[in-house]
Amino acid sequence: MSETIKPHGGTLINRVATGETRSKLLKEAEQLQQIPVNAWTISDLDLIGIGAFSPLTGFLEEKDYKSVVDRMRLSDGTVWSIPIVLPVEEALAERLLVGERVALVGEEDKIVYGTLEVRSIYRVDQRDEAIKVFKTDDLEHPGVQKLFARSKTYVGGPVQVLNRPKPNKFQEFYFDPAETRKRFVQNGWKTVVGFQTRNPVHRAHEYIQKTAMEIVDGLFLNPLVGETKSDDISADVRMRSYLVLLENYYPKQRTFLGVFPAAMRYAGPREAIFHAMVRKNYGCTHFIVGRDHAGVGDYYGTYEAQDIFKNFSAEELGITPLFFEHSFFCTKCGNMGTSKTCPHDKSHHMHLSGTKVRAMLREGICPPAEFTRPEVAQVLIEGMSDQLIPSSNP
Ligand code: ADX
Repeated sequence: MSETIKPHGGTLINRVATGETRSKLLKEAEQLQQIPVNAWTISDLDLIGIGAFSPLTGFLEEKDYKSVVDRMRLSDGTVWSIPIVLPVEEALAERLLVGERVALVGEEDKIVYGTLEVRSIYRVDQRDEAIKVFKTDDLEHPGVQKLFARSKTYVGGPVQVLNRPKPNKFQEFYFDPAETRKRFVQNGWKTVVGFQTRNPVHRAHEYIQKTAMEIVDGLFLNPLVGETKSDDISADVRMRSYLVLLENYYPKQRTFLGVFPAAMRYAGPREAIFHAMVRKNYGCTHFIVGRDHAGVGDYYGTYEAQDIFKNFSAEELGITPLFFEHSFFCTKCGNMGTSKTCPHDKSHHMHLSGTKVRAMLREGICPPAEFTRPEVAQVLIEGMSDQLIPSSNP
């Protein structure tokens, strides 16, 4: 279907080298200076390579970095809200020259994940970045913590992916944007709503997804499975919970599960814009933004991640955000609702914090069925009893 939604910036980027080109580049990479890269950067590199971050063709150069931090746009004006950058240790950065190519090598496995043509080497003011991107420089904020832990010197330029990171579980749920786009067309879906989550799908999530499904052709359940903070439920356990939920409660013909192998930034409003642009690249026409999207603690207002969309026109976003109010189960209504649909006061609304739910699950207690489907709770209880594994890639 040529009418599939246009990728952000108009072209689906593909920077994954294959065949002879790849072999040649791998050979050349042996002679290049090496930049060690961690799991987070490897994931960013791969997402650039497969076009999930279109129109980015590499890590941000200084002019784009500044423009993204200051005005949520690339220097050419395209909407982009999160800096995708390559921090490089000072001593190593000093040895690099603009114009040379470098090899991006896994710091642990020594795999050459890609190459980068150095176009820009720049020092940044991390506090300024923190305040503008995360709206705080508080070190308790997990995103700010990550930011301050890395080098202040960034290197930018276009990349080539030479090796893809290999998931060790749930490989069948990894799809590149070119593949999801194809699948949506094969399914006959003209409209697809994307759903981001770093959590198990609870009844409130299910409610907003299904409300959206009433007006679009298909749901792309696209849980983030890259790096998350250590107290989030691991991607492995979550994947099992999504499968059991879909099996029992969702129409197979209208749902598609595929992972989003990105790191979680916890940047609230700015990350909501970023999440929407990326889902557009995967082929979604609509994107759900509920309460405190991508938030953490009390850093962002409940609907700030919705309000931020007002800064951009429908044309420049290119994907339709679907905003949902805080949803809950109302014991008097006997169903899910929001303040838009339920007239009863708070005493009838079930509320459980994420922290409380995790504590219950850890103790082997099923949260009420009005909060979590029993099949899901069962998987989470089993998973969490042996979850000493950190919540990174599945
Ligand atoms: S996150 O990736 O955005 O941090 P989370 O699982 O907390 O993941 O939320 C996924 C999506 O569901 C977000 O758009 C969020 O705003 C929305 N959401 C979560 N809980 C609720 C709720 N009770 N009511 C309405 N929207 C919600």
